[in-house]
Amino acid sequence: MNKKIFDDFTRREFLNAATGTAIALAVGGLTNTGKGEMEYVLPPLPYPANALEPVISARTISFHYGKHHKAYVDKLNKLIAGTDMADMPLEKIIIATSGKTDKTAIFNNAAQAWNHTFYWQCLKPNGGGEPPAELKQKIEASFGTVEACRNELATAAGSQFGSGWAWLVLDGDKIKAVKTGNADNPMTEGMKPLLTIDVWEHAYYLDYQNRRADYVKGVIDKLINWDFAAENLGK
Ligand SMILES: [Fe+2]
Repeated sequence: MNKKIFDDFTRREFLNAATGTAIALAVGGLTNTGKGEMEYVLPPLPYPANALEPVISARTISFHYGKHHKAYVDKLNKLIAGTDMADMPLEKIIIATSGKTDKTAIFNNAAQAWNHTFYWQCLKPNGGGEPPAELKQKIEASFGTVEACRNELATAAGSQFGSGWAWLVLDGDKIKAVKTGNADNPMTEGMKPLLTIDVWEHAYYLDYQNRRADYVKGVIDKLINWDFAAENLGK
């Protein structure tokens, strides 16, 4: 585990808990139920459900956010209720359960809760275009050009067999495009997530059926929130 990343996430979680809903969106933090218990809440979407049309329809968002993402959060709360993980920051649960065969269900739901909250922030209406200067410089140092970075991210997304995620991560001093299967998150390998694209079929099937490449191209060209990636780089 990369301690710095862990500390960063832990600090963010703490800040979230201290400052309320708007920032809790950043990681999907804990909230007090009022009964002396803590539980994770489904953070609000950062935009209306139809804001990403026509690339991602409101119908897809309604299922993806309202059913799939919600189910991961609800299941996680059930799985950790009454355990020593009940009041742990989400990232700590992910790191603690990664690779533990007796904790697979907790890992899967915790990681999917985190990944989706992160994913929503990686998208925005009228996104795409060029990254902010500092991030652009780092991308050029790592990939040669922004176009090469976009292509490597698209390749990672297209070549993930079955369900999973494509990511831009900071690995040491370099930005890399990587892919993970199912719920896996590169933070468990000591890499810092900057950006992600969900390539589970539930992310695109209603709009694109089997045409994952078209969904990925639409996301990269029109929705990617480079400002959010730049913020993550600076954290
Ligand atoms: Fe998803």
